[in-house]
Amino acid sequence: MHSQIDPERLPRHIAIIMDGNGRWAKRHRKTRVQGHEAGAKSVRVAIESCRKLGVDALSLYAFSTENWQRPKAEVAALFRLMSKYIHSEIKELDANNVRVRFMGRLEALPERAAKDLAYCIERTKNNTALSLNLAINYGGRAELVDAARKIAREVAAGALAAEDIDEARYAQCLYLPEFSEVDLLIRTSGELRISNFMLWQLSYAEFVVQEVLWPDYSPEDLQNAIVEYQSRARRFGGCA
Ligand code: FPP
Repeated sequence: MHSQIDPERLPRHIAIIMDGNGRWAKRHRKTRVQGHEAGAKSVRVAIESCRKLGVDALSLYAFSTENWQRPKAEVAALFRLMSKYIHSEIKELDANNVRVRFMGRLEALPERAAKDLAYCIERTKNNTALSLNLAINYGGRAELVDAARKIAREVAAGALAAEDIDEARYAQCLYLPEFSEVDLLIRTSGELRISNFMLWQLSYAEFVVQEVLWPDYSPEDLQNAIVEYQSRARRFGGCA
């Protein structure tokens, strides 16, 4: 372990906005799709690092509800890449006790992708080490809307009184209720935006922005982010 990391104060849940695949590709005179392929290798780096450190959960922003606006060929390539990744990595993820879950409007995914997701969920459902949460067709506002719909249905059915809706009850209606708090949010490529990611869960997360482009992400980058996280005083709105 990195000598400056305090194992007693690890972030339990890390979320990453993996950004910079396109700029990496441009810099290396490659296509955007090749940039995403290089980015998929860094996904492995992040998972391995979190697993070895003993982090409980890693949430990765793989495809947003806004990403459909990209050229059709890029969207298709991203889905192909995710399927390829799942097939090439699932055996090792499973052997390493990683549990794979997904968050997003999964019912709207292409059939092939939906099948791959279901396979991953089923195959790793009893694993107990790192929880890998992949956000696909995900939007933070869409998640809040979907949660509101679930609650509204319960109220309409008479199963819940409006007065009984509180933060804890609302959080139970998120896509992955067990992971309703993020401790550390990392964004690569120097961008200072949340881009509609995990709006509820990020309320008290520490935000670390790193200049590195996602395809160049290394275990040292993740360790540096954790060291930075541990240097912050988390007050959750209270005082020091
Ligand atoms: C942002 O880079 C990245 C994405 C929109 C997609 C993330 C996808 C991967 C890392 C690869 C596959 C994922 C898995 C889970 C195997 P960008 O294209 O917005 O970069 P730019 O801002 O430099 O153009």
